[in-house]
Amino acid sequence: MTSRTIGPVLMNGVRTEPAEAAVSVFDIGFQRGYGCFEAMRSYADGVFRLDGHLDRLERSAAHLRIELRDREALRSWCVEAAEGGVGVLRVYVTGGMDAARPGRDNIIVVYLEPAPAAPTSVRLDLLDAPWHADGKVSELTGAKTLSYGPNLAATIEAQSKGFDDAALLGSGGIVLEGPTFSLGWVKDGVVFTPSLESHILASITREATLEVAERLGLHVSVGHFHRSELTEADEVFVMSTVREIMPVTAVGDIDLEPGPVTGMLRAGFRELVTEELA
Ligand SMILES: Cc1ncc(COP(=O)(O)O)c(C=O)c1O
Repeated sequence: MTSRTIGPVLMNGVRTEPAEAAVSVFDIGFQRGYGCFEAMRSYADGVFRLDGHLDRLERSAAHLRIELRDREALRSWCVEAAEGGVGVLRVYVTGGMDAARPGRDNIIVVYLEPAPAAPTSVRLDLLDAPWHADGKVSELTGAKTLSYGPNLAATIEAQSKGFDDAALLGSGGIVLEGPTFSLGWVKDGVVFTPSLESHILASITREATLEVAERLGLHVSVGHFHRSELTEADEVFVMSTVREIMPVTAVGDIDLEPGPVTGMLRAGFRELVTEELA
């Protein structure tokens, strides 16, 4: 077993040693990045919003015309792989062996990996993302596909300049999201986050954060915002399954401090997770 997984890898539900877990080089998931995936958070008491993640996976697969035949079986594989372990539960759906018939002889891979040693804050570079859907509609809009090359390249580009990651910008300098996270910020006590109409990923953490903000009685503004609103914010934070809610301490050459509203949202998110999994 390698240190990348906590338990076995389930390959179409079959428990497989990590070293033996393999996908064919002829699978269009490997050859074309044709497939979809999810990352969920497994806590000691269960998987946070497992059904929300499976709903999103089903939507992704439907965009790719891959039929997820047995939702209940898939759900049980997730529960089996998580088994009360703490970490990131990964699910990958490959495109299969025939580009003319997506999903044919495909593999669904499920495994739990240790949560990464989380930094306590992130520094973001502002990068244009001309490849992002950015409000435009295509066959795969909204799908969390295996084709994450441009996202990874943006992270690597930001890191090559001394940042931790990127904040992606659409046309006209509109703020979108990070390569693997959603963005939020605070100005004069109001919480801002880009609209899903920009075709950013429908993030489970962003959705939960908006619920927490409502509970806390915070004013929230969801819309289309220019990069200057991000660089002039009092606080900036990222939201994702892996990072939960994490403060941003730099946006380009602007330095920031982790702020009180981010702290409240973070604590509120933790409470929500505890409540839901109780
Ligand atoms: C592009 C993108 N945006 C946002 C997110 C955050 O989504 P979630 O909160 O569901 O993890 C992710 C997560 O992988 C992502 O890839």
